[in-house]
Amino acid sequence: MTQEKKKARDGFSSSFGVLAATLGSAVGLGNIWLFPYLTGSSGGAGFLIVYLAATLLVGLPVMISEITLGRQAKADAVSAMIKLAPKGRPWWLVSVFGVLAALMIMAFYTEVAGWVFAYVFKAIGGSLLSTDPKVTSAAFDSMVSDPVQALVWQWVVLVVIGGILLMGVSKGIEAVTKRLMPLLFLLLIVLGVRSLMLPGAAAGINFLFHPDFSKITAQVLLSAMGLAFFKLSIGMATMMTYGSYFRDDQNIPVTAFRVMSADLFVSLLAGIAIFPAVFAYGFAPGSGPKLLFITIPAVFANMPFGNVFMVAFFLLASIAAIGAMLSLLEVPVSVMSERFGWKRPATTVLNLVLLAVLGSGCALSASLTSDVELFGMTLFDLFDFVSTKLLMPIGGIALSLFVGWVWGRDRFAAALSNGGTLDNGRLVGVVYTVLRYVSPLLILVVMLKGLGVF
Ligand code: PHE
Repeated sequence: MTQEKKKARDGFSSSFGVLAATLGSAVGLGNIWLFPYLTGSSGGAGFLIVYLAATLLVGLPVMISEITLGRQAKADAVSAMIKLAPKGRPWWLVSVFGVLAALMIMAFYTEVAGWVFAYVFKAIGGSLLSTDPKVTSAAFDSMVSDPVQALVWQWVVLVVIGGILLMGVSKGIEAVTKRLMPLLFLLLIVLGVRSLMLPGAAAGINFLFHPDFSKITAQVLLSAMGLAFFKLSIGMATMMTYGSYFRDDQNIPVTAFRVMSADLFVSLLAGIAIFPAVFAYGFAPGSGPKLLFITIPAVFANMPFGNVFMVAFFLLASIAAIGAMLSLLEVPVSVMSERFGWKRPATTVLNLVLLAVLGSGCALSASLTSDVELFGMTLFDLFDFVSTKLLMPIGGIALSLFVGWVWGRDRFAAALSNGGTLDNGRLVGVVYTVLRYVSPLLILVVMLKGLGVF
C-alpha cells in the first residue's frame, strides 16, 4: 500500500491520448471483420439500424458507467470494485469474470489477428492475388490448417502487443494509439473512395443503407446487441481499466459519445470500402467469417493496383486489431500487477506465456486439435461463446445493476460532474435511469433468447 502511494500511478497524459487509446480499444477486428460480415449475412441496412439502437440504448450508458467507476477508483478493475462496493459484498467477482473474458477473447482474437498480420506480408509478396475465390479460399485454408504458420503468426502478434505493454500506459498504449489511429482513418478513407469510384458501386451502397426489415429476426437482434457490446469493449472490465487512466478533467459522457461515434464511422467506412467493391465485381456479400480473407483478396485482384490496395487494407486491419488487443491484455496485466504487487514486466510476460498456451488451442483448431471438442464446439468457438455470449452480457447486467441500485445516483452524478465543474445533471439523470431499469432487462432478455431459453 505504502509503496503504491509513493509511486505515481501511470495513466493517459493528454486529452487526445485518452481519446486515441479508448477509440483504439473500441476499433478492432469488430469493425473490419465482424461488422461487415454480420451486416452482409444479416441483410444489410436493417441490421445496421438495430445495431445502432443497441449501441445507443445499451452500449453507451454501460460504457459511461464503466469508465466512471474506473476513474473514481483509480485502480485495477478488481481493486476498483472492492473499493467502490459496500464492504464484504462480492461485486469484485464481476471484474474477475472480466479478466477471464479478456483472456478468452485474446486467445481467439490473436489468432484472427495473426491471419491479418500474415495477409499483409502475403499481399506484399503477391501470393494472394487471384480473381478466383477458389484460389483465395485454398490459400486461406492452407494457412489456417498449417499448424506452424498458425502458431507462429499468433506468437508474432503476442510479441508485438507484449512489447508495447512493456513500455507502460502513457509511453506504450497512449503513444502507440496516438500515432496509429490517424493512420487508420487515412487508409480507410483512401480505400472507401477507391471502392466508391468503381463502376457498379451503387449496389453496395444501396445494400448497406437501404433497409429490408423482413430480414430482422430474433437472431439478428441478438447478433446486433452482441456486436454493440463487443464493439465498445464493454461488460468485461476493459473500459473500467482504461477509465482508471482517464484524467480528472476529462468529460466522460462527451468522450464516450465521441468514441462511439468515431467507432461507428469506422465501421461504416469499412462497409463502404468493402460492399461497393464486392458488388461491383459480382461477389456475394453474405459469405460469413471468410468474407475478409477469401472474398476481399479476390475483390482487390480485380482492381488496377489491387495489390497496393490490398496491402493497405490488411495493414489497416492490423492497426485496428492492435489497439483492441492492447486494451484486452491490459486488463489481466493491471489486475495481477497492482492487486498482487507483481512487477509489471514480469506480469506481462507471464500473461503472454499463458496466452501462447491458451491461444494455441484456438490456433490449432483448424489442424492438430480439430477434433478436440468441448460441449460440441472447437476451442475457438467455445472461447468466443463463453466470453461474448455469457460473460460480456452478465458483466453488462451486473455493472448496470451496481451503478443503478448499489452505488446510487448521487455518487454517479458527482463523479460525472468532475467535482461540480460540469453541468450535466440532466444527461446523467437519463443515463442513470437507463442503467437502473432499461439496460439490465434488455440485456437479460436478449442473452436468454440467445441461449435458447425461450
Ligand atoms: N472492441 C474490439 C473490436 O471491435 C474488441 C474488444 C472487445 C476489445 C472487448 C476489448 C474488449 O474489435
